[in-house]
Amino acid sequence: MTAPLRASEPVVVKVALGERSYDIVIGRGVLASLGARLRALRPGAKAAIVTDQTVERLLRSATERALTGIPSTCVSVPTGEGSKSFAMFERVCEALIAGRIERGDLVVALGGGVVGDLAGFCAAAVRRGLDYVQVPTTLLAQVDSSVGGKTAIDSAHGKNLVGAFHQPILVLADTALLDTLPGREFRAGYAEVAKYGLLGDAGFFAWLEANAKDVFAGAGAAREHAIATSCRMKAAIVARDERETGDRALLNLGHTFGHAFEAAAGFSDRLLHGEAIALGMVLAFEFSARLGLSPPADTERVRQHFAGVGLPIRIAEVPGGAPGIDVLMELMAQDKKVKRGRLTFILARSIGAAFVAPDIDAAEVRAFLADTIAR
Ligand SMILES: NC(=O)c1ccc[n+]([C@@H]2O[C@H](COP(=O)([O-])OP(=O)(O)OC[C@H]3O[C@@H](n4cnc5c(N)ncnc54)[C@H](O)[C@@H]3O)[C@@H](O)[C@H]2O)c1
Repeated sequence: MTAPLRASEPVVVKVALGERSYDIVIGRGVLASLGARLRALRPGAKAAIVTDQTVERLLRSATERALTGIPSTCVSVPTGEGSKSFAMFERVCEALIAGRIERGDLVVALGGGVVGDLAGFCAAAVRRGLDYVQVPTTLLAQVDSSVGGKTAIDSAHGKNLVGAFHQPILVLADTALLDTLPGREFRAGYAEVAKYGLLGDAGFFAWLEANAKDVFAGAGAAREHAIATSCRMKAAIVARDERETGDRALLNLGHTFGHAFEAAAGFSDRLLHGEAIALGMVLAFEFSARLGLSPPADTERVRQHFAGVGLPIRIAEVPGGAPGIDVLMELMAQDKKVKRGRLTFILARSIGAAFVAPDIDAAEVRAFLADTIAR
């Protein structure tokens, strides 16, 4: 593992995808370089900022200043998951067209994962594909959703069911923007940071166990180190498997269980995505141990670390009470990771060694959940 960097030094992580390659630039204050970077990438381009109403209030003027004279328009959508909708897709597409954003111009997705997914999908669709830039403003977006080119809106049948692979041309992750993020949102994003350690880097997880306090406090360069390490791992996985035909599925550690809890909570603020994924990862480790695949001591470390930072580790902590077994099984069966009735899980041999288990017997899962809920 590399040594933590100094706070003032931006780090550049490359996403190597041939002609679709791009940089992730991470550091405190890097937003100010937006205009210069866009001019270098697309000289003469206009820009359309897409954001949500909360982020608009906090960051629209700083972002317009950072564009340093690049002509821009701005469209904002209501804050929250509800904006990953056909209605907001239409609103943003029409605004881009009305703002005369042409091929060669740029969409700037300024916000969390909701804005990134929506703006990215609009960019993929308008004029059959516009270039776009991600300026992620939540921890979850800085370490996960802004990288890798998955864009989507939700359907009445489920989350992220209508979308496209469309890579950004730049990701600009300014860690200072996280200063205004509510603590609960930061914690939820931290679950995704820990995910990288759990799925493929035991040394990074051990580093997080020792340094989580500094990552949360923004002390020294711990936060930047955690974000850069996460982005490096995501970039490497995406470079190996851009369209999720293999390894990229490892990023779904905790997601089959987690999505079921999120769905049971109605994809609402009752349970944030990252909170559901934290619980899902604990269950993935418990289930792995039950199947004799991984040491129970590793499950205990995962539980202790998440409990220590305030993330949920027990089904009983799901607000509104634990969903029933039948509901959970039904929700997992609807998940897109189901093939011919068998469930695909991401399981672990140990901390840092996750693998795709494509053929898990639904009866085993049901028995495990029944025992876990009864505890
Ligand atoms: N495309 C992918 O690969 C991918 C990966 C993971 C998650 N996702 C998606 O990401 C979404 C969740 O993203 P999220 O957790 O960032 O949610 P979000 O975009 O809703 O942001 C969370 C909240 O924080 C607010 N906020 C954003 N930046 C802020 C700031 N700097 N200061 C204060 N408040 C701020 C937002 O207005 C919102 O209320 C989900 O829709 C999920 O499906 C996508």
